[in-house]
Amino acid sequence: MSLAVTGIGELVTNDPHLGIVHDAAIVVEGDRIAWIGPSSQAPAADSRLDADGAAVLPGFVDSHAHLIFAGDRAAEFGARMAGEAYTGGGIRTTVAATRAASDDDLRRNARRLVGEALRQGTTTIEIKSGYGLSVPEEARSLRLAAEIVEETTFLGAHVVPAEYAGRADDYVDLVRSEMLEAVTPYAKWVDVFCERGAFDADQARAILTAGAKRGLGLRLHANQLGPGPGVRLAVELGAASADHCTHLDDGDIAALSGSDTVATLLPGAEFSTRSPYPDARRLLDAGVTVALATDCNPGSSYTSSMPFCIALAVREMRMTPAEAVFAATAGGAAALRRDDLGIVRVGARADLIVLDAPSHLHLAYRPGVPLIRTILHNGVPQ
Ligand code: NIG
Ligand code: FE
Repeated sequence: MSLAVTGIGELVTNDPHLGIVHDAAIVVEGDRIAWIGPSSQAPAADSRLDADGAAVLPGFVDSHAHLIFAGDRAAEFGARMAGEAYTGGGIRTTVAATRAASDDDLRRNARRLVGEALRQGTTTIEIKSGYGLSVPEEARSLRLAAEIVEETTFLGAHVVPAEYAGRADDYVDLVRSEMLEAVTPYAKWVDVFCERGAFDADQARAILTAGAKRGLGLRLHANQLGPGPGVRLAVELGAASADHCTHLDDGDIAALSGSDTVATLLPGAEFSTRSPYPDARRLLDAGVTVALATDCNPGSSYTSSMPFCIALAVREMRMTPAEAVFAATAGGAAALRRDDLGIVRVGARADLIVLDAPSHLHLAYRPGVPLIRTILHNGVPQ
């Protein structure tokens, strides 16, 4: 089956050779893009979707989300907005709720959030574990995540669970041996929360190198709550992404700029923890590849909205709308080391969004407005 999307007023391709194209059309065959060119020359196809002058861009690639959990932490959010600080301590509340939930409850909640994200233009989303924190519970979280998405990440090292209080190194040993072995069939990536109060650089290195030996790709929660060694460790180990990057010094930026490690910024977390935003301009000016993602989780960032993150990045992080849209699409794909996503080119996955607007600028210019008119996911209109 082929489908021609015609009458595209502004096509954001993210292809360095093509850039932004006007009056364009795309032909999709199966789940792939088969043709791109002027609308007037669009070849015949089995069906047609007229964009009627609207902007079309690649679907959003949300490369950082924690969707296997139960319960919410609205009261914790309320307390924060009344002046309390975010420390990550609430993670244990969600661990207790998650352990008590059935497979079906966890599955239903994760699918609900994936659906919510898709309606806002997210055609790829990564899911981390990290609210199980025991061998069977982490294996369960990743088994459920792998039922739903392709990009799954083992975050057994999210915090030290209560039953290992005072024995962090014993927990690290469990994570890098038995737990890693149990999750490997379901996980593509391994991640560690490298932060004061969670895991230090040596512990993170031990877990990440054990994961790499089992063939998992590396990513790291780094420099979220304060300065620290996470970003440099991510670069040292060749991680695909260092995530958060809120507190960076010049050495962190220099390390990222000479590397293939993407800096993934998560402004929903700064919004929901009322923290200062990272300065994306410093990273972009140093030539670092930047991704934007939601960090969707019940504690620090309970949003599934990539358009919201784009608007925050433009208003609060000194990104231009074009840079923010690139970071939310091609940047996320780079953070997942995927060359078939986040780009409009022949052979790429036919994941596209048609905006209810003539230009990508409207994603930041009209914050909070539902601007996604039509979504093509794997070539299928949703
Ligand atoms: O990315 N930083 C660690 N993990 C999550 C927060 C998880 C939670 O508060 O439940 C984050 O912000
Ligand atoms: Fe996170």
